Amino acid sequence: MSTKNTCCRICGNKDLYKFLELGPQPPANAFLTPPNSSHRLYPDFFALQFKNEKYYPLDVYFCPSCGLVQLTDIVNPDTLFRDYAYYTGKSSETMKRHFKELAKKLTEEFDLCSDDLIIDIGSNDGTFLKNFKCRRIGVDPAENIAKQANLNGVKTFPCFFTADSAWKILNKVGKAKVITATNVFAHVNNLYDFMAGVRCLLEDDGVFVIEVPHFMELYKNKEFDTIYHEHLSYFLVGPLVELFSKFRLKITKVEKIPVHGGSIRIYVKDQGHAGHFGPTIVEEAKQVLYTKDTYQTFADKVRSIKEDLVTLLTKLKAQGNRIVGYGAPAKGNTLLNYCKIGPDILDYLTDTTPYKQGKYSPGMHIPVVSPDVFHKDPPDYALMLPWNYQTEILKKEREFLKNGGQFIIPIPELEVIGIW
Ligand code: TMP
Ligand code: ZN
Repeated sequence: MSTKNTCCRICGNKDLYKFLELGPQPPANAFLTPPNSSHRLYPDFFALQFKNEKYYPLDVYFCPSCGLVQLTDIVNPDTLFRDYAYYTGKSSETMKRHFKELAKKLTEEFDLCSDDLIIDIGSNDGTFLKNFKCRRIGVDPAENIAKQANLNGVKTFPCFFTADSAWKILNKVGKAKVITATNVFAHVNNLYDFMAGVRCLLEDDGVFVIEVPHFMELYKNKEFDTIYHEHLSYFLVGPLVELFSKFRLKITKVEKIPVHGGSIRIYVKDQGHAGHFGPTIVEEAKQVLYTKDTYQTFADKVRSIKEDLVTLLTKLKAQGNRIVGYGAPAKGNTLLNYCKIGPDILDYLTDTTPYKQGKYSPGMHIPVVSPDVFHKDPPDYALMLPWNYQTEILKKEREFLKNGGQFIIPIPELEVIGIW
């Protein structure tokens, strides 16, 4: 089930400009489960599951009034997030290190002592919160993941964060000195309701810290694959200033961080605080990110990435090479579905997340296997779908490269990496 927004999520402008169509596509994390023994009684079960797969438009809009890039087709959040495939603790060493460093930085900068409370929204399996010594509370709607977090010793409320759930949390744990929301703000359709919740839970002198992929980087590096139904907004600093001002909040600092293809960490406090963030916004304006023409050029570039990648893979396959997909991140599914790269090209996708192994990728129906399969019988080429972890993966897979294997990196530039 999906609904359609008719106006901009931040400023309410009705005149949104559609510049890119990547779909229809199924939700990027909706991996399909193969039949178990009881399903064998119904041989058509799996075919039926494929047939019943739900596709939704993946159209991208720009708001010429406030500058927010956004999706307007909203897939029911229960469908997307209640049973979730992404476990932070299983995803990458890079992100684990990132969260450890962030916890250290916040503890020092805001002088968090044992009585202080930090609330993390979209806390996943507790990988981030585990690093704090103070009181810590997670909020995450994915029941499978909140359960894992509680087992990991991180108290987690299994719910969506809304003004309503914030009141309930307030009654149970009181106000927080720090509220964090990393890689979750873009998932929220009703940002006003979400921010009302943040306002009610934040101490007067507290800080709200968000990390979001920066649209400027998405634009510069043509990271179109990071567009999927879970990501409803693609942020610049400009539109966020407008949003926070409605809650008497202001941005006091913006830091650029390298994760997820280039993100920004934004510190938000009550309007009474000092602080400035000028340079980022000036840079965004210089990139002409607030005009319609920019978006047409972007869409043309995306189409040519598709053409170049499909041409390369088809040629390699015709030459008799064995090709697989390395990693099965959500963004990989956007790329595969948009380019229509299926099991005729890629024998399988590997992934380190046990939840994804043994399943089939949404849309293209490529089997997902453990990295052991890749190591035991290495292919000629591996299409690196989580290209954002290129350094980590190249280091880890030196053996594959030494034995003549080659990685195909699709983004930001199509590149083949091997040792000759
Ligand atoms: P992310 O880009 O959203 O963090 O997702 C990364 C996905 O890629 C996650 O499913 C784990 C997978 N992955 C591997 O399978 N092997 C790896 O070496 C890395 C770094 C990630
Ligand atoms: Zn707008």
